[in-house]
Amino acid sequence: MTQGLGNDRETSIVMRCHDMQLLLCDELEALADRLPSGADRQHCLHLARAVYPLVVSTHEIEEALLFDPLGSLAGRVPDVPATLERLRFEHQSDLCFAEEIHDALLAFGRGEPVMTADAVGYLLRAFFEGVRRHVAFEKEILVPLLALVRPVSRSAS
Ligand SMILES: [Fe+2]
Repeated sequence: MTQGLGNDRETSIVMRCHDMQLLLCDELEALADRLPSGADRQHCLHLARAVYPLVVSTHEIEEALLFDPLGSLAGRVPDVPATLERLRFEHQSDLCFAEEIHDALLAFGRGEPVMTADAVGYLLRAFFEGVRRHVAFEKEILVPLLALVRPVSRSAS
């Protein structure tokens, strides 16, 4: 559904953010599937350090290049303000998850786990399943709406 919007530089950046989040979800799912004995400690440390900065940066970009422009649709699409508020709340919730994941994977990678492997797996799954649903909504519903606030003549430049 988002095909054809890729010429718009800002839309492409948002789509790249979505791709990065989905790749992170795939990595976290693969890790959750390998816990506890098949998990590589160095990989846990790598993911621990990557998850929070990636979530922060992608959310900042989405909010600036996706949510803010769509806010101008409030007069034409009544549900937009409530939807954007819900998505911003989901971003905050994901940040909290990302912090917990950072701490859990750092401890696991250092061989000093403070949570059971089952608890870490549950935490990872709760995060990546929520992020996948959130990203799917943004990709399928919000990104196409950008065409309403960024006319084709501008996006083609
Ligand atoms: Fe988002």
